[in-house]
Amino acid sequence: MKQKILLLLAILALASASAVQADDGYRLWLKHDRITDRTYLRECSRQFGNVMITGESSVLRTAHDEFIAGLESMTGMEVTEVRAPEGRGTIIAGTFGSSPLVASLLSDVQPGITGEEGYIIRSFRQGRRNITVVASEGERGVLYGIFHLLRIIESESPLDNLTITEKPATKLRLLNHWDNLDGTVERGYAGASIWNWHLLPDYIHPRYRDYARANASIGINGTVITNVNANALVLTYQYLLKVAALAEVMRPYGIKVYLTARFSSPREIGGLTTADPLDPEVINWWKEKVAEIYTLIPDFGGFLVKANSEGQPGPQNYGRSHADGANMLAGAVAPFGGVVMWRAFVYDNNVPVDRAKQAYNEFVPLDGTFRDNVLIQVKNGPVDFQPREPFHPLFGAMPGTPLMPEFQVTQEYLGCATHLVFLAPLFSETLASDTYAAGPGSKVSGVIDGTLHGYTLTGMAGVSNIGSERNWTGHLFGQANWYAFGRLAWNPALSPEQIASEWIRMTITHDPAIEEGIAGMMLSSRETAVNYMTPLGLHHIMAEGHHWGPGPWVERGRPDWTSVYYHKADTVGIGFDRTKNGSGAVSQYFPPLDSIFNDPRSCPENLLLWFHHLPWYHVMKSGRTLWDEMCIKYQEGVDSAEDYLTYWESLEGKIDGEQFGHVRQMLSIQAKEARWWKDACLTYFQTFSRMPFPDGVEQPLHNLEYYRGLRFHYVPGI
Ligand code: GCU
Repeated sequence: MKQKILLLLAILALASASAVQADDGYRLWLKHDRITDRTYLRECSRQFGNVMITGESSVLRTAHDEFIAGLESMTGMEVTEVRAPEGRGTIIAGTFGSSPLVASLLSDVQPGITGEEGYIIRSFRQGRRNITVVASEGERGVLYGIFHLLRIIESESPLDNLTITEKPATKLRLLNHWDNLDGTVERGYAGASIWNWHLLPDYIHPRYRDYARANASIGINGTVITNVNANALVLTYQYLLKVAALAEVMRPYGIKVYLTARFSSPREIGGLTTADPLDPEVINWWKEKVAEIYTLIPDFGGFLVKANSEGQPGPQNYGRSHADGANMLAGAVAPFGGVVMWRAFVYDNNVPVDRAKQAYNEFVPLDGTFRDNVLIQVKNGPVDFQPREPFHPLFGAMPGTPLMPEFQVTQEYLGCATHLVFLAPLFSETLASDTYAAGPGSKVSGVIDGTLHGYTLTGMAGVSNIGSERNWTGHLFGQANWYAFGRLAWNPALSPEQIASEWIRMTITHDPAIEEGIAGMMLSSRETAVNYMTPLGLHHIMAEGHHWGPGPWVERGRPDWTSVYYHKADTVGIGFDRTKNGSGAVSQYFPPLDSIFNDPRSCPENLLLWFHHLPWYHVMKSGRTLWDEMCIKYQEGVDSAEDYLTYWESLEGKIDGEQFGHVRQMLSIQAKEARWWKDACLTYFQTFSRMPFPDGVEQPLHNLEYYRGLRFHYVPGI
């Protein structure tokens, strides 16, 4: 009897397991859990009972294995592999070139429609059979098409009459890892580096493959595995063997490996006395080094370079230009089809009047002087990955040079891996910005996909938020930012709403009401963070060094690394005057944007203090004073962060228990830290405004001295 009761209890526990399962986050958006909707399961078996994925290459084999594993896991079906369409439903996948069947079924498709990476998914009836075809000109296209189909199944979307044609907007869709060879990650908040350099090349951690798989599933096709603050050691033979082992794991997933190149490598590891890019010995050293790399890694992608920036060596050490440096390296990789991504994040050792202007001033005169295989990698905004910046004025200003944007997926300035901040709205805001470079409608996305200036080499980079934590990104919702980056690099026009919905359905729930609630939280979360950190165009007012938490009072050290340099608060007002009478940064934008930004009446209020120094009593569109508006924005940020926690608590028992508990704790920290940001910033700025807090704004918990006195040790990510 007792045993029977225990059994019954166990069954009951299992029955309610869907709400309290333990999901540790490792599987990301590729959970492929068993679908429970019987009608949908029947539909799957009608469509995909038979599988015909042909082709011998490693990428096509991956497509084959991924589809079968994914389908079997989600449906419990045992699929049959066939050599010709059979039974009720067959899925057929392959390239036009290698599969005559694919070519004949889609004979209406013109060459070039899919290219190497795009794909067509079409489902139709042939007599009494259901046929689904996934086709591309290239094997990677087939793999991406398969992942798309799996995504459709995983989110239980309709399977009949599929007519999908996709082609990526950019050619290079890369993650940039700021991972060091000692296992630390610069600005990484999710544990140590996932690359175990010590055990490579002999030990291949299973995570490497899972990493490649996750990236391929969202169309990422390259990874820069080392920090931009580069270590020359990675270019030594010993390390190149390790890199080659990683490249081998990535290859079947269509992912190329890239490295950061330390400009002084010829001196540091090559025994030369100079790294002057015009020196014949230096040129030769790089040529030989590159040839060695390609012997070990035939599909090596190329180099990412940070030069003459924040202490990194570069061509300017030898009186040469960025173009001299980039072109020398580009010359070395060109014979092998490699590229050089040269970063525009440069600023002088001599502190400028306005750091925001430097990259533009440095690079615009070099437009058109770079070799064909060079891209200039430009941060989304002109300062440094702030919660909100205007788009970088270089976009549109270099018609003769391919520019690739760099977004920061890791949340250096957005609460590290502790705050829920969905970054798709931030990325999209930049991509959708109108540069006016060739008149209205000249969006940043048009610059980067090559349509505006006719670039053929295009790309997008995201600074990775991945680490050794079990769930990869520290915060579960950090996964959504990795996902969003990949999806937007593929299609910059995708809406944050769609991306959020896809991610939620694959990661958390199919329940429409909960999906809507979580999406609401995600889609507002970036604005919420802006509100409690840097409303109205404020920027760079975080704590010194680690950048975690508020530090508007920071004034020591290099001026353009302090907060006071950026907010310029005084008893009259606040904000950085970048108008034509100020630093003149507005003039780096095309008309009419220069005038729009120049006038506080037309400048978007969310960028007001980026471009203007305004009196505390300046009247805002709401009719409030600037001071009151700022206070209210900070309060709104805190209120929203608290609302997220309250909402999330209402999900207890309705979503996976481990996901629930993890995010609840994170949201509770976020709410606490949002208040800390508000209280610290407002008590500090109040010493200048000398105005009271308006109604509705809560009194700070502590005084300014308390906030200024806080010290933190061993903050991660440096
Ligand atoms: C920021 C960041 C640095 C990083 C730099 C870069 O300044 O704080 O850690 O090295 O950006 O993008 O090169």
